[in-house]
Amino acid sequence: MCGIVGYIGYRDAFPIIIKGLQRLEYRGYDSAGIALFDGKDINLAKTKGKVEDLKNKASEISQKGSLGVGHTRWATHGVPNDVNSHPHYSNSGDLVIIHNGIIENYESIKKELSKRGYIFSSDTDTEVLVNLIEEVKKTEDVMLGKAVQLALNQVVGAYAIAVFDKRKPDEIVVAKLGSPLAIGIGEDEFFIASDASPFIEFTNNAVYLEDEEMAIIRLGKEIKLRKIKDDSVAYPRILELQMNLEEIEKGGYEHFMLKEIYEQPRAIKDTYRGRLHADQGLIRMAGIDQNLEKFTNANRIIIVACGTSWHAGLVAEYIFEDLARISVEVEYASEFRYRNPVITDKDVLIAISQSGETADTLAAIKLAKEKGAFVFGVCNVVGSTIARETDAGAYTHAGPEIGVASTKAFTTQITVLTLIALKLAKAKGVFSETKYHEYLTELETIPAKVERALESNPLIEIIANVYKDSTNCLYLGRGYNFPVALEGALKLKEISYIHAEGYPAAEMKHGPIALIDEHMPVFVIATKKGHYEKVVSNIQEIKSRKGKIIAIVTEGDEQVRDLADHVIEVPETLESLTPLLTTIPLQLLSYHIAVMRDCNVDQPRNLAKSVTVE
Ligand code: M6R
Repeated sequence: MCGIVGYIGYRDAFPIIIKGLQRLEYRGYDSAGIALFDGKDINLAKTKGKVEDLKNKASEISQKGSLGVGHTRWATHGVPNDVNSHPHYSNSGDLVIIHNGIIENYESIKKELSKRGYIFSSDTDTEVLVNLIEEVKKTEDVMLGKAVQLALNQVVGAYAIAVFDKRKPDEIVVAKLGSPLAIGIGEDEFFIASDASPFIEFTNNAVYLEDEEMAIIRLGKEIKLRKIKDDSVAYPRILELQMNLEEIEKGGYEHFMLKEIYEQPRAIKDTYRGRLHADQGLIRMAGIDQNLEKFTNANRIIIVACGTSWHAGLVAEYIFEDLARISVEVEYASEFRYRNPVITDKDVLIAISQSGETADTLAAIKLAKEKGAFVFGVCNVVGSTIARETDAGAYTHAGPEIGVASTKAFTTQITVLTLIALKLAKAKGVFSETKYHEYLTELETIPAKVERALESNPLIEIIANVYKDSTNCLYLGRGYNFPVALEGALKLKEISYIHAEGYPAAEMKHGPIALIDEHMPVFVIATKKGHYEKVVSNIQEIKSRKGKIIAIVTEGDEQVRDLADHVIEVPETLESLTPLLTTIPLQLLSYHIAVMRDCNVDQPRNLAKSVTVE
């Protein structure tokens, strides 16, 4: 987690780094810091709190210089405070480092360095690393790049680092293992960042380091890439970025989350654009077309993911089994990787990840590959580690998702997974032509139906106001909408800090029903298709225990309206596509409740957008 930014060139580094940190704040926001070299000295400011706090703190230092690094932190080692914030100096004061990741063996290295007289002012693993680099540099009498390479061979863990030496201010050394690192290449200037958003207005050319690679970035020279293990030469692969500035700004919305909720009609359309050809009865997806037999001959599909992506995986389980008749297991990546799972070369593993950087999902991919499974990625961030590590894949094309709470990632993941399931259903011949066409045509109507679902926003705001002070909430759904209930509960707890549980509606009577009284709001997904009558019975059960019922229903529904305290309508669609609509009001509800409770919607406490530690 954590975001890192660096600049070396001819412009003032300060505004570039501060703006860059603000764009990366989604990655961690408990403390922040900046170090600038003014031609003579390093000026450093760091503080507990957000980048905004850092801006105030930095008014106490000189903001001059065209070389600098900055950091926004999600604490792993040491509490969030000023001292533990990055950047960190080496003992001599010559070297400065920023780090995203964890050095697992830092304690033994720290002991060794302490014996040699090193003093540590923070509790961080990062301060240990910068001093290890200094020690290697001194004892081996080598240049900074070589010292970084030798030092990294002694550490166990994950890192994206940037280091510079004030005695050699034309150079920054960066390295990566496990955490992302992009280098923006301009004319006579270089940018370093955890993703490309900090430098998108300056250059479209970027190099993404692979794991175990480092780069020596020197002004006036080409960047030199080396393998950390043996110092052999690696060759930079320069990518042309597609991202634009508009996509990473709020565009008039109060929060990124709201903007991203409203972007869903466009995002879903972009996800199927060029793939779904309803008029020709065709779905084109290169990653599937080229590996079709792997899927159709698979014993089973294993889906691994975390959080919201895991919920999209659960929806996919229903879709794949129902439409394509392929057996599916959905696993939390964090459990799967440590469970010694049975995996064979007849299995296909689908890894779902918005960021493409989630450490547990990445580890699950590596494990499945070792065991011979074919691994397919569904990612949003182009060029991300998971996108590169998988055998094939399909991007979701949602555009940058900056709010920590996933919204458009969820609906676009479901869109991609639906396209895959339909393709496989066709290839396996388990679907009639008529049914296949019906699905393709209906999928094309979804963006407009999402627009309609968004029109309930004013009503949802009123309902949010009624329940904003609740301490507990239940979310119930059945079949395809059970994962939507889980997702609704996750959205509420992560941004409004209200305890919420998602349950399959029928499971309620096996325990959670004991919680229901007049103070318990129960959000029930009760759309017309999919166990409607059974859900209506569950609603009766809640009502007879005086629970407050907020139901998501199909447009025109009368039966539930008579029972529920509030109803929110969504347009009618095919059962398997309902999650794309029913999730919308639940996202808006969480959003409004969080705003009303004065919570930080885009950066909820203790969380980070991209979870690159396990
Ligand atoms: O980037 P990923 O999709 O791999 O991230 C997985 C989870 O960390 C993520 O979905 C998380 O649960 C979100 N904050 C949920 O809104």
